[in-house]
Amino acid sequence: MVEYEPLFDSFGRKHTSLRIGVTDRCNIRCFYCMPLENVQFQPRSEILSFEEIERFARIMVGAGVNKFRITGGEPLVRSDLPLLIQQLAQIPNVVDLAMTTNGMLLAQHAADLKKAGLQRLNISLDTLNEATFQKISRRTGLHQILNGIAEAQRIGFRQIRLNAVAIAGITEEEIVPLGRFAKEQKLELRFIEYMPLDADGQWDDSQVLSGQQIRQTLEAEFGSLVPSPRTDASQPAVDYHFADGGVVGFINPVTQPFCQTCNRLRLTADGKVRNCLFSEIEWDVRSLLRNNASDEDIMELVRDCVWHKKPGHGIDSDEFRRPERAMYQIGG
Ligand code: 5AD
Ligand code: SF4
Repeated sequence: MVEYEPLFDSFGRKHTSLRIGVTDRCNIRCFYCMPLENVQFQPRSEILSFEEIERFARIMVGAGVNKFRITGGEPLVRSDLPLLIQQLAQIPNVVDLAMTTNGMLLAQHAADLKKAGLQRLNISLDTLNEATFQKISRRTGLHQILNGIAEAQRIGFRQIRLNAVAIAGITEEEIVPLGRFAKEQKLELRFIEYMPLDADGQWDDSQVLSGQQIRQTLEAEFGSLVPSPRTDASQPAVDYHFADGGVVGFINPVTQPFCQTCNRLRLTADGKVRNCLFSEIEWDVRSLLRNNASDEDIMELVRDCVWHKKPGHGIDSDEFRRPERAMYQIGG
């Protein structure tokens, strides 16, 4: 494998993690991510093929990237996804291969994903209440997700984690039941603050239910949470454990930004490289991939992207502008 210089940005952050969007499509419509109607999906021809993704991933590994996460949209609506997992799992020096999914199609695919080499799963689960699920996702089918979780547990992955987006006025009542479920199922639970990435531009800071508030709610029910030692400085979550076991983490991008230790790059399903969820500029690697560009040309584009990374998202600054694309188009 050709080796390149590591991907340092202008603030000295070394980039070793790549999030790969495989589709902008989704089988549900969470309001914090997608519009309800008239979704403008990318035509198939504009979505990278598995071969294109794999080539890009290999080049990145040459520059020290060693972690991949598959995102969407909902990755499992992309056909033959285990094939891509298999291709990525075969790249040498990759120490982590994970996926974020809404779980709706997980029961049918868990075994194939595991066989293909997927190591870890994050399953989005904001609520255990069907009515609240429908309010958030504007679809039915919470039981499908619960079946997906059960099947993934049965198959066995290195780690299965539940991700809960917290929304003020909607999910306060979900915190304790989710905590209890995670403890009973021995699954890690993470609460994520609602970020301004919804497609309808409705986000407002009054809808942010802070990690701090959630922690207080959990402590009132389950007793003090004990901070866990931080093993990976770049991880966005601050982890705690319950006195009687079980891990709960808080991803607080709004109230406690963690940009200083960010090591992540993103490849969107349509082949744009982004240096931040909130970046306003994208680097078009698809046109390079489709126009006989050399690996060096691609590397140069990525370096330019990394070099232009800002110190942080600045959500609370006056200059903050929402990115043009919403979460489902960026990949979470
Ligand atoms: N704010 C916070 N988290 C979000 N997610 C999607 N949209 C948002 C948002 N606006 C979460 C999903 C999933 C992960 C990909 O990101 O629920 O867990
Ligand atoms: Fe689909 Fe995930 Fe977006 Fe929800 S957050 S609409 S599950 S892509």
